Amino acid sequence: MASLPFSILIFGGTGAIGKHITSAILSAKASSGHSISIFTSESTASNPDKQPLLSTWKSQGLRIITGDISDADDVTRAYEGVDVVVSCLGRNSLLAQTDLIKLAENSATVQWFFPSEYGTDIEYDASSKDEKPHQNKLKVREFIRNEIHRVQCTYLVTGPYIDMYLSLVPGVEAIGGYDVGSRKAVVVNSGDDAVGFTSMPDVGKLVVAALRNPSEAKGKALKVQSFVTTPMEIVREFEKQTGVEWTTSYTPIQEVRDLEKQLWEKSSPLAALATLRRIWAEGRTLYEQTDNKKLGLGPGDMETLSDVVGRAVGAASKL
Ligand SMILES: NC(=O)c1ccc[n+]([C@@H]2O[C@H](COP(=O)([O-])OP(=O)(O)OC[C@H]3O[C@@H](n4cnc5c(N)ncnc54)[C@H](OP(=O)(O)O)[C@@H]3O)[C@@H](O)[C@H]2O)c1
Repeated sequence: MASLPFSILIFGGTGAIGKHITSAILSAKASSGHSISIFTSESTASNPDKQPLLSTWKSQGLRIITGDISDADDVTRAYEGVDVVVSCLGRNSLLAQTDLIKLAENSATVQWFFPSEYGTDIEYDASSKDEKPHQNKLKVREFIRNEIHRVQCTYLVTGPYIDMYLSLVPGVEAIGGYDVGSRKAVVVNSGDDAVGFTSMPDVGKLVVAALRNPSEAKGKALKVQSFVTTPMEIVREFEKQTGVEWTTSYTPIQEVRDLEKQLWEKSSPLAALATLRRIWAEGRTLYEQTDNKKLGLGPGDMETLSDVVGRAVGAASKL
């Protein structure tokens, strides 16, 4: 496939989803005369744990620019010659993106910006505007609507990452999840309500597909996914791949709502996760049609439930 005809700069490139996005962009390659760079802090660039990944990426041609995202001069210098900015910044730095987008608008070359989204649809329906975890992403979209006129933005709305959904989070097991080691699952209600998921490697693939289809992607909130399944279908896939029956517990959705309220009241860092799990269980990841096809991707191009469960079972067997 043709390489990407842009110079691309990535923020948050070594983060949880940034790793997948950076790897996919590097695999797609930039065409001659263009570059792929990450903008990162000195501390990340010199972190011993990050060296294997950074060395691999450097050997694939990645440029590493160090600086401070809150320093306008650092960012302006990094934008020189850049056509597309892909932000993968984490939840605690989402609001820093308004300055980054303003600087992009004022730059001589940046044409296209992907704000950090890659998650739950923050404008799914009328209730979405009141959900606490959506507030900073909503502010970024509002800033773009009001203040940004030249640079085009693309929001990639992927729903939950199936890879993360497959774990049982200590302290909030009741909100749902899976523990391969103990063959235990917790599902909300009967576990038969569908949820749309994207795998983390597919998020990278979808960003590249958006980059290859500017006319379909620019100025849009793209609704994309790997597949739709139910929590109980996931249990059955785990049973098939581990060859044993699993123990499943069922949490009524009202219990998830009560737990969510308690977690927000005590400012728990797990509160946002409880809200998101509730939103997913309520069906707010489902669409009559996704935008995958517009990006040139069919079901055969995406990972399947079997692929992702296989990866989770394989990882657990190495522990
Ligand atoms: N759909 C889902 O299930 C799901 C799950 C998790 C996250 N998400 C979404 O994915 C996006 C990225 O989240 P993530 O979990 O991948 O993020 P993350 O790993 O927490 O952080 C991503 C990167 O942001 C940069 N960063 C974080 N704090 C910073 C700060 N104070 N100053 C400068 N840079 C900072 C770092 O960049 P360097 O790499 O340069 O150090 C870090 O690696 C978010 O929009 C989040 O809502 C979705």
